[in-house]
Order: sequence, then C-alpha cells, then structure tokens
Amino acid sequence: MKHPPEIESLNPLNLILEEHDRQQVMCDRLEEIADGLPDSVDLEKARHIAEILKFELPQHHRIEEKALFPVLMKYAVKEDNAGEIVSRLNEEHVVDESSAEELIELLEYLARGYSLENANMFGYMLRGFFENYRRHILWENSFILPLARRRLPEEGLRTDITDDRTARLNIVAEKRECLQCSGKELLSWGKHCKQTLFTFNMQINC
Ligand SMILES: [Fe+2]
Ligand SMILES: [Fe+2]
Repeated sequence: MKHPPEIESLNPLNLILEEHDRQQVMCDRLEEIADGLPDSVDLEKARHIAEILKFELPQHHRIEEKALFPVLMKYAVKEDNAGEIVSRLNEEHVVDESSAEELIELLEYLARGYSLENANMFGYMLRGFFENYRRHILWENSFILPLARRRLPEEGLRTDITDDRTARLNIVAEKRECLQCSGKELLSWGKHCKQTLFTFNMQINC
C-alpha cells in the first residue's frame, strides 16, 4: 500500500535516518572540539553538543530499542542474522550513554569557561566516542534500516505493526520543525534551531 506523500514523510525509518544525519554532524562537531582543545573550543558549540548528548541521544536509543529493534526481530528471518547485530547495537547504546555522561560533564564545564586539567585525556575520550559512534550509525544505516525496509509491512510503519495483542505496537512519528526556518537549517546549528528536533511518540497498546 502506498501512502500519500504527507504520510510517507512520517515513515519512522526516514526519521531515524534523518536523526542519524544529525548525529553525523554531532560527531563532526565533537571532532572539532577535540581538535580545538585546549584553548580554541567554541564554548557555545560545547554547550549545545552537551545538550544533544544529554537529551537527544538517549531518546534516539530508546526509540530503536523499544520500537524498532523488537519489531524488526519479529519480522526478520533466520538468514538475516539480525539477533546478533541487534544485541550488539543494544550493548553499544549502554556503553555510549555511559561515555556520553562523562563527556557531558566535561563539555558543560568547558562551556562555563573553565579550563580542563587534563585536556589531552578529554580529547582522547572525545575521539573514542565519536569514532565508535560513527561506526554505530554506519551499521544501522547499512544493515538495520535496509533490513527494516525489506521486512516490515509498509502499512505497519504507521499503524499496527503486529496483530499480536500482547505486543501490539504503534509507532507514530512526529516531526517538529523550527518555526523560524521550517527545519531547512537543521544542520547549520543555527541558534533558533537548537530546540527543534525530531521526536517520536510511541504508544504501546496491550
Ligand atoms: Fe543505535
Ligand atoms: Fe541510531
């Protein structure tokens, strides 16, 4: 079944892909911060990235863990070997959020104008994080999302994914755009865009 364009644009898989684009930019910004240490860091950028790590990253992970991965596992066939990759991605979420907590603390410290005692160590932590996270995005974009597009019933991406009452899941994707630029400048990190992120509403009906 083909959806009209306005519904097609709310396909949660497309929104996850768009979030990954934003996360790629986040990794680039983290690299710029690492390159700028100890004295040439854009403090506003550090503050903004700390917010993204604090709020956007966990939200994105919960969407994948609670909505996408379980549904994908239900529809994947044995030959897809999805189980091993999904469990590795779940583990990476835990590790990345734990690393992000340390980064947030130090980024906020920097953003308040303080100097770090050990900028080299912070640079090392930043590089470890964004290099791992780029790999994580690559796996999801090259394996998980294409598999989901192949296996999930198209109409299920808007409404009921399964008719199993005990696990019925609705994924409703909601795109919030910046009122000033209509989202066109999302990747420019313009000041007016900083609070305007893609969000998903998940409803679990049992
Ligand atoms: Fe993920
Ligand atoms: Fe992701």
